[in-house]
Amino acid sequence: MCGIIGYVGKESAAPILLDGLRRLEYRGYDSSGIAVMNGSNDIHVRKKSGRLDRLRELIKQNPAEGNCGVSHTRWATHGEPTDENAHPHSDQSGKLALVHNGVIENYQILKEQLEQKGHVFSSQTDSEVLAHLIGLHYDESSETDLKKRLTDAVRDSLAQVSGTYGIVAMHEEIPNFLVGARLGSPLVVGLGHDENFLASDVGAIVSHTSNAIYLNDRDLVYMTDGDFRIETMDGDLADYEVSTVDFTADEVEKGDYPHYMLKEIYEQPTSIQNAFRGRLLDDEGSALLGGLGLSPKDLRDIDRIVLCGCGTASHAAMVGEYMIEHLARIPTEVEIASEFRYRNPPVDKNTLVFVISQSGETIDTLAAMREGQRKGHRVLGIVNAVGSTIARESDGGSYLYSGPEIGVAATKSFTSQTTLLALLALLLGRMRHLSFQEGKRMLAEIRALPGKVEQILEQTDKIKEIALKYIDAPGMLFLGRQFNYPTALEGALKMKEISYIFANGHPSAELKHGIIALVSETLPSVFVMPTDSVYEKNVSNLEEVRARKGPVIAVTTEGNTELEKIADDVMYIPEVDECLSPILASIPLQLLSYHFAVARGCDVDKPRNLAKSVTVE
Ligand code: G6P
Repeated sequence: MCGIIGYVGKESAAPILLDGLRRLEYRGYDSSGIAVMNGSNDIHVRKKSGRLDRLRELIKQNPAEGNCGVSHTRWATHGEPTDENAHPHSDQSGKLALVHNGVIENYQILKEQLEQKGHVFSSQTDSEVLAHLIGLHYDESSETDLKKRLTDAVRDSLAQVSGTYGIVAMHEEIPNFLVGARLGSPLVVGLGHDENFLASDVGAIVSHTSNAIYLNDRDLVYMTDGDFRIETMDGDLADYEVSTVDFTADEVEKGDYPHYMLKEIYEQPTSIQNAFRGRLLDDEGSALLGGLGLSPKDLRDIDRIVLCGCGTASHAAMVGEYMIEHLARIPTEVEIASEFRYRNPPVDKNTLVFVISQSGETIDTLAAMREGQRKGHRVLGIVNAVGSTIARESDGGSYLYSGPEIGVAATKSFTSQTTLLALLALLLGRMRHLSFQEGKRMLAEIRALPGKVEQILEQTDKIKEIALKYIDAPGMLFLGRQFNYPTALEGALKMKEISYIFANGHPSAELKHGIIALVSETLPSVFVMPTDSVYEKNVSNLEEVRARKGPVIAVTTEGNTELEKIADDVMYIPEVDECLSPILASIPLQLLSYHFAVARGCDVDKPRNLAKSVTVE
C-alpha cells in the first residue's frame, strides 16, 4: 500500500521522484504528491488527487525545483482521496514535509493533544498528525545541531505512536538531508554516487542504483547526498547489509505490451522455468529445495503442514494442499493469513508452517509468520521479492525467481507458487510413498510445463473472442473440482478484481446446494474440467447448468471434442498430470478476465480500490 520515494543528490529531484512514483503507482493510485527543497531552502509541495498524470500536469504548470525531495502515491486508509489528504504532509510550522506508509492507530488521541496546543490540521489523515508531532518535537528542542534535532524529533515521535510506518521526512532548515524509519512498512535505502534514495521498494530506484539496503523494523536512517547512517531506535548503529538488486530497470517496464498484466501472463513459460530451474534431481526422481534448511530427518518427521497466505497466494496454497496430500500423504491445511494470526490454531512441533507471498510484505502474512515464530515454530517462506521482509525474517524458504510482478492482479506469481509447491510435494512424497519411477514421471511433467504454457498462450485470440461474446454478462460463476476447485477460485478472483463484475468460485458439486439459484440465460458459468478423475462428475454438473439454460464456457484438455457439443465455448489446455493441471488451467482464465476487462474499458493494471501489496491490516 502507498509508495514512497525520497531523493537527495545533485540532480533535479522532481523528475526522479515522478519517475519513481510511476514505478510505484501499483502500490496505490488514489492521489500523489511531491515536496522538493530548493537552494534557498523553501519547501515546495505539489499534490493532487487521482492518477499520477494529474500531478505531472500540476508540476508542469507550477514547477518545483530542488535537489532534495520526498514523494508519495497513496492508497487511502484514513480520509478520502482528496488533494488535502494527499501526501506529503506538513507540520504546524509548514517547514517539515513527511510521507508515510502505514497506519498510526492512536492518531486520534495524539491529534486531540496537538489541537489543545493550538495545532490546526488540514487533512483527515493519521499521517498529518505524525508530521505535526515530529514538527512539535523539533520546534521544542534546544539541540543546536539541526540534523540531530530532526532525527531526535523523529525518534521521539515514533516512540509515541502505535501502528505501522514507513516514513521519510525533511525540514527546510536542513538542506539536503532526509530522515527515514520503518516499522511494519517496507523501506529501502538506495546508494548512488553523490546521491542517495529512500523508497518503499527497490523497483522505484533500480534505474538509478542497484545497491540497496533493506531496512529492518525499528531502523532509523538519515542521509545526505554523500553519506548515510542507520541506527536502531535506541540510537545505536544498526546491523545492515548492502545487497545487489537482482533485476534491471527494463524488467519493471511494460515493453511493447499494452499492460503489465498481459506482459506477466506472457512471461509464464520463463517464470515457471525459473521456479524449477536447478531444483529437479533426476538421479533421485525428486526435488531439491535447499533454502528450506531442513535435514532429511526434519523432512521425515513432519506430520502436518500449514500453508498460509492471502488472495492469490491463498489459492496457490489450496492447490498446494491438494498436491501435498496427493503426492506425500501429509495432512495439509490452508490458513488465510489474516485469520491465522488471530485464530490461535493448535500447531504442534511436527507441523511445518509455510507463508506464501509474492511481495513478501503483505502485513497479514507477515503477522501470521511472526505469530508462528513467536510460538517457537520454524516458519518457512515461499516468496518472490528478494530482500522482502518475509524473505528476511522467515526461517528459510524458497524464492520464486519470477522477476517483478507489477500488475495488481497476480498472474505469474500464482503459477510459480503452484510450481514450487509441486516441487515441495514431490520432495516430501519421495521421502514417503512415492516411487522413483513416479518421481521421474513427475519431473518430466514439470519440465514440460513451459512448452505447454506456450501452447495455451497461442490461443489468446480465440479466448479474446470468447471474452467479447460475454461482454454484457452481469457476473460469472467459476466451477471446478478437486485440484481445480482452487483454480476456479483464482479465476473468479481475477475476473472480479479487474472487471468489477460479480464472480465467485465454487466446487462444481456445490452448485445444487444454492448456487444454481443464480443460473440464468445471462449468467455464464466457467467450468474448469480437464479430462481427469472427476471429469465425468464435472460433466454432470455442467449439464445441470445447461438444463437451466445457463451459458457454459469450459476449460478442458486438448482432444476432448465431446465438450464442444455441450458447452457454448471451450478453451483448451494440453494433456498434463492431474495434480499439475491448475498451473495450466489458470492461464486461459487469466486471459479470459484480461480480455473481458480490457473490452469493458477497465484499467486492468490498476483496478479500482485495490493495491498490489497490502501493507496495512
Ligand atoms: C493483494 C493483491 C493480490 C495478492 C494479495 C497477496 O490483495 O491485490 O493480488 O494476491 O495481496 O499478496 P502477496 O504479495 O502476499 O502474494
